[in-house]
Parts: sequence; C-alpha cells; structure tokens
Amino acid sequence: MVPNGPMLVEGPVELVTDDGVTHTSDRFVVAVCACRRSKRYPFCDTSHRKRVRSDDSPASHEDNR
Ligand code: FES
Repeated sequence: MVPNGPMLVEGPVELVTDDGVTHTSDRFVVAVCACRRSKRYPFCDTSHRKRVRSDDSPASHEDNR
C-alpha cells in the first residue's frame, strides 16, 4: 500500500463495488483507490495527490464585503 495512496494488487483483477458493478483490469499491477477521491473509482487516478484546501488558504482570508 502506498501511504495516503492506492493499494497495489497483482492483476488481472475483478472488483465489485457497493453498487454491484463489476470492474476489471488486465494490468500486471493494479492501483486500487483507497481514498475514494478517484474519478475512476475503484481504480486510482492519482487524485489522492491533490491537496485538500484548508481554511488557512489565502482565499479564505479575503474580505468579500
Ligand atoms: S488512492 Fe489514488 S485516487 Fe484514491
């Protein structure tokens, strides 16, 4: 498992998500999303690398009056 990232599993794989849909991959190594931010869930699309904006970001300190 990659810290804060996907689980790497040996392929080929067949994954069934909560909605009952079966997803398949024939790759030798498959990155399975563990953060649930992937747009290709259940497969990792590297969205886990994006920073989560915190309330301390400069934009949150702007005065919008
Ligand atoms: S683990 Fe990579 S997008 Fe979720």
